[in-house]
Amino acid sequence: MSSSVEKIKEKLTITDVVSSYLKLEKAGSSYKGKCPFHNEKTPSFFVSPDRGTYYCFGCGAKGDMFTFVEEFEGLEFKQALVNLAAKAGIELVPEKIGERDERDRLFQVVESASEYFESNISKHPEVLDYLTKRGLTKETIAKWRIGFAPNEWRLLHDHLLAKKVSVADMLTTGLIKRVENDPQKVYDVFRGRIMFPIFDQSGRPVAFSGRILVDDGKSPKYLNSPATVLFNKSEVLFGFDRAKTAIRKMDYSILVEGQMDLILSHQAGLANTVASSGTAITEVQLRRLQRISPRIMFALDSDSAGFNATKRTAEIALGIGMEVKVAVLPKGEDPASLVAKDPNLWKQALRNGKHIIDFYTDNLLAKNLDRRVLAREIKSAVLPSILQVQSKTEQAHFLKMIAEKSGIKEDALWDDVKAIARDTKIAPAQTATKDMPALVPRLKGIEGRILGVMFWLEAKKETEQAEKIRKKFGEILGADPARISEENAAGEKDKLIFEAEQYYENSNRFKTDLEELFINLEEEKLKAELSRSMVELHKAELTKDSEKAEKYLTECQHITSKLAAIRKRS
Ligand code: UTP
Ligand code: MN
Repeated sequence: MSSSVEKIKEKLTITDVVSSYLKLEKAGSSYKGKCPFHNEKTPSFFVSPDRGTYYCFGCGAKGDMFTFVEEFEGLEFKQALVNLAAKAGIELVPEKIGERDERDRLFQVVESASEYFESNISKHPEVLDYLTKRGLTKETIAKWRIGFAPNEWRLLHDHLLAKKVSVADMLTTGLIKRVENDPQKVYDVFRGRIMFPIFDQSGRPVAFSGRILVDDGKSPKYLNSPATVLFNKSEVLFGFDRAKTAIRKMDYSILVEGQMDLILSHQAGLANTVASSGTAITEVQLRRLQRISPRIMFALDSDSAGFNATKRTAEIALGIGMEVKVAVLPKGEDPASLVAKDPNLWKQALRNGKHIIDFYTDNLLAKNLDRRVLAREIKSAVLPSILQVQSKTEQAHFLKMIAEKSGIKEDALWDDVKAIARDTKIAPAQTATKDMPALVPRLKGIEGRILGVMFWLEAKKETEQAEKIRKKFGEILGADPARISEENAAGEKDKLIFEAEQYYENSNRFKTDLEELFINLEEEKLKAELSRSMVELHKAELTKDSEKAEKYLTECQHITSKLAAIRKRS
């Protein structure tokens, strides 16, 4: 696999790949353009042909040509590999001999079955009648390749057999089953059902979901294909292949539950809709959506038993940093029924979508609980979700909003949030701290800029210069803190390099800037030490420990004079 990656990177430059999707203009040794991953007017998306990487200062998107294709096209790595190999004119060696053949064969089986089901629609007016009554147009039926499996035992089997499909492949794709007491005999699994093909990311049918046409009171309403090498239930999102472009354009996705909801939503012009098809949605699926847009809208019927499922899904989505909203539907309705009545009703529900935190809060407020109960409910039902919100500014915004709406003191809410964070052992970095000393971020900023110059020089193979900076950095911070700081910065390496490059390319200004940065670093480090010593001094005074107080007083004086010396220098 990795040798294919190298071969592709030899043949293609990152600018070749990116500029086939968007317009780039030269900016020093890099190129820049409008970021395809978020909406912007002025270009902040930079591409470096030398390093083979990109970075967006607006949204932080970064990576190489593979991640670019993955994110832009909404593909898995393997598929991006196939895509780029084709661009580069390189032949990929199949992972395992035989596996390729099996996949190709099964694709063909599902495709043949799909064509067969589609062909039945015109022969069964009662089906067209049903679909029309539910609001589907003929175009929609054709576009989504909706079909029908008549209520007979072996029609599909016989059809596929005539097409030389093996019984083994029919069994593997879950289209037929063996009769339990007579395993020589087989029968069609989907009978008397409207057939919805489920498509993979490239729009090929890989499985089916069949809805019963006439309820017999004992069969399940929907029947789905089993998992196969083509169909991974926890990864496929129904409608994704058609929705991805619209999700990017509208910068949010809509998640509905069922096939009908999805198809009718698309028919109503909301092409950014995908469906979970009944099963619980997974983190993999959410991340796939997130790669295209971080914003998601859940459709929720107001009396839903699925409320808890939504809550779980929302928690995963918030936890990976998505912005989650919910569109609340009128009692007893789903998107399909709304569109059938009037597409505007569905659009209205979406326009009225609320952030999930607002939604939870408003739900509780509507219950008119007494003050103490309300506070308890907010703590247990809303505040944990706030901890899932990734941005601290947003956490603060929501706490302020809850305080305003509920009349609970903001400070009390902060205390509760901290208590929950402690109890659930969520990493402290993830919890908001109102009173974090301002010193730390400043120091981080200076460290980042110094390390940025260092990484940039290293990337340009100016190793000697880079080493000088590393040495000085270590002298000021101490060997271990310097190493830890560098390790922490590694995650932001691309950003730091592009930043340094933008500042300092074609100038020697970085040398004088660096001197100043090192002075600032020293100063900030001493200030941090001073504030620590002051705290200790204060504690010693409180406990009347004069020996300690003496010690910290000397230390404070010592640091203060060092600081004065630095300030003179600069
Ligand atoms: P619903 O029961 O809400 O059905 O299940 P629906 O979507 O409103 O169905 P229609 O509109 O009457 O046709 C939601 C989804 O859960 C899955 C299906 O994907 C369905 O669309 N489901 C439901 C199953 O997989 N099996 C079932 O027996 C029922
Ligand atoms: Mn429905």
